[in-house]
Amino acid sequence: MPLSVDDRASNPTFRKLRDTWLVVSWASALSDRPIPVELLEEKLVLWRSSDGTVQCAYDRCPHRGTQLSLGSIDEQGAIICPYHGWAFEPDGMCVNVPQMSSEVPIPKRVKLQKLSCIERYGLIWVCLGEPTEQIPQFPLFDDPDMRHVECAPYMWNCTPERMVENFMDFGHLGYLHDGLLGSRDDLIVPEHSVTSEKNRLVFDLTMDVPSTNDSFGVTQVEGDRGKQTNSYVVSAPYTIFLQSRYHDSGTSRVLFFSVQPLSLERCVGYCYQSRDFDLDQPDAPFEEFQALLAEQDRPIVESQLPKHAPLKLSDEVHLPFDKVAVAYRRLLKDFFYTT
Ligand code: FES
Ligand SMILES: [Fe+2]
Repeated sequence: MPLSVDDRASNPTFRKLRDTWLVVSWASALSDRPIPVELLEEKLVLWRSSDGTVQCAYDRCPHRGTQLSLGSIDEQGAIICPYHGWAFEPDGMCVNVPQMSSEVPIPKRVKLQKLSCIERYGLIWVCLGEPTEQIPQFPLFDDPDMRHVECAPYMWNCTPERMVENFMDFGHLGYLHDGLLGSRDDLIVPEHSVTSEKNRLVFDLTMDVPSTNDSFGVTQVEGDRGKQTNSYVVSAPYTIFLQSRYHDSGTSRVLFFSVQPLSLERCVGYCYQSRDFDLDQPDAPFEEFQALLAEQDRPIVESQLPKHAPLKLSDEVHLPFDKVAVAYRRLLKDFFYTT
């Protein structure tokens, strides 16, 4: 259920998220047309202006409230409203009202409500308010030995924090993803520790993984199983960088995952599958592997109640192998309530 404007203003999570860079789209989704995106219950429009930069504004024409994302972009890179053809330059100012002689000045108040927008790592990031933190880092993005594959965005009816927590929940890997990320005959979670930094968590875990070579060929192990060390950096609130190093081959698979809150209870996950091996092999198995995992996870995470992961730890059961979830909830508590 959408929150009222008053509820949003008084909701600390909403207020903090408005001042956070959040992912809203793959950059590759932008072509020569404007596109609509949604962020925290706001309808926004993205377009690429003639200098190649990405622009973002509320998806409302100031004239009659028409969705600008139904419009077009002219040769100068101005966005054109589909109703009466008014044109708006990248700075948001209206530069053409076809119904009025060009001799008549256009009032300065005829302008779009622009928003801060950055293209980075092939993703578009938007901040609805004043950003208080940097965009999370993707350290290997410019590494020429890495190949990055965009996976289909995953739209889930769940809270963003439940989606993020699922991505780093070690206990479910062998059980829910039996034969893919672990095995049901070996569910003991290996020892690990979590380091909490300001707005970040850092942790490693070395585990046995089954070979997927018969079906997907995404795992770099020589026998039926091999060791893999997973190194995670989690940036509050909703971004994970994960590097999985295979002991048998010394190669790495990397996942960069960031979540777009459409509202506080619906979200979209953007995930890169990156690798420094099999660069001449097709990318499809990597995307299909991730899609299969996501479809195993989705109904589970959408079923979780309460929808919001309780930040009061005693409201759910946490056992010693759940220390990442405990640290993540503390991170969120700090991020939303003390920074
Ligand atoms: S509604 Fe956009 S130009 Fe009239
Ligand atoms: Fe999973």
